[in-house]
Amino acid sequence: MRFVLTDQNLGQWAADYIVEKINRFAPTADKKFVLGLPTGGTVVDMYAGLCAAYEQRKVSFKQVVTFNMDEYVSLPKTHPESYYAYMHRNLFDHIDIDPSNVHILNGNAPHLEQECEKYERAIAFNGGIELFLGGVGRNGHLAFNEPGTPFSSRTHRVALTKSTIEANARFFENDLSKVPTEALTVGIGTVTDAREVLILVKGEKKAAAMRRLVEEPPTVDCPITALRNHPNATILVDEGACKELSAATQEKLRVLRERAPEQKSWTLEI
Ligand code: GLP
Repeated sequence: MRFVLTDQNLGQWAADYIVEKINRFAPTADKKFVLGLPTGGTVVDMYAGLCAAYEQRKVSFKQVVTFNMDEYVSLPKTHPESYYAYMHRNLFDHIDIDPSNVHILNGNAPHLEQECEKYERAIAFNGGIELFLGGVGRNGHLAFNEPGTPFSSRTHRVALTKSTIEANARFFENDLSKVPTEALTVGIGTVTDAREVLILVKGEKKAAAMRRLVEEPPTVDCPITALRNHPNATILVDEGACKELSAATQEKLRVLRERAPEQKSWTLEI
């Protein structure tokens, strides 16, 4: 796992990285680039960076297929806080992606279990995910996989924990009763099956999850730690997210930074 500290805007760093990956892959109609996508506050800047890159003709999404990580259950698609609405507002409405290449779990499907199975089949049909992007919850949740979810889990229906409902209340007028209590989510196994994973982590609220990820062995109690076992995972963090790392890890980062202050980011192999 690569643990990358940057003092640049995380979203811009990630957008540049993704644009380069897509262009290097050189997708065609027969060989599409399959991208896994997250929602959340942290990745808004990343989507703005991708829209700007498209606007400047640095990248095209014509041959890109996307699969979103998760969606609330029973929230209408048209609700501004549905992940469907979020994705269209922040990305899809501004780029040249073919709508038939966009996949978002339908939290209003008549048979939710079938919806999950169909999603897994669609990912497999597209040849698996090349690059899965993500964020992390304060309790270490990955997509909506809450602590305790097996690392082998596939797309499934979940009840959200109290801490996730509280964290997301800010999007629902701070009214806990308005936050959906259930969601559909890709599993941890669905994410770790991707050939590459990039997770963006910003701010002190995520520092405890980063301490567990870096300093402790993988455990289902902290879902993000599943990435320790992944052969090609990058965790991109800002200084706030490093606040609870051990003194030894902080010292390693300090030395890396001191040696190459001109760099935009510094990488620790963990
Ligand atoms: C939600 C999403 C997660 C995301 C998390 C963090 O719970 N389901 O996929 O990682 O929010 O969001 P934020 O970036 O707003 O902290």
